[in-house]
Amino acid sequence: MMPEPEAKEPDSQPELPCILICQHQSCLRNGSAAVLAAFDAEQIPGVQVKASGCQGQCNMGPTVRVVPEEIWYCRVKPIDVPIIVEQHLKGGKPVEALLNPRIHFRFY
Ligand code: FES
Repeated sequence: MMPEPEAKEPDSQPELPCILICQHQSCLRNGSAAVLAAFDAEQIPGVQVKASGCQGQCNMGPTVRVVPEEIWYCRVKPIDVPIIVEQHLKGGKPVEALLNPRIHFRFY
């Protein structure tokens, strides 16, 4: 009799929410280092903050992407960080005015 194949552990670890802040050329030129510093300073429980490479939205930078939700913000300034943290990351409601319109289409 053949042995039962070993049961594979289900991947039960939920993916932690993560904020990716582009630190590539165009975004850096538009102040993304200060945006990263502002998110780092917020210390959001249960949310990771990471510098990222180019996210392909260079002329809309600084680009901020929230995964796994796939919410994309564009032209983010340090002054925008508190509202993203309070309204979206803590309150669950993305900040409409800062959404990247190329990714989050609006039909008015
Ligand atoms: S340089 Fe930031 S999205 Fe390309």
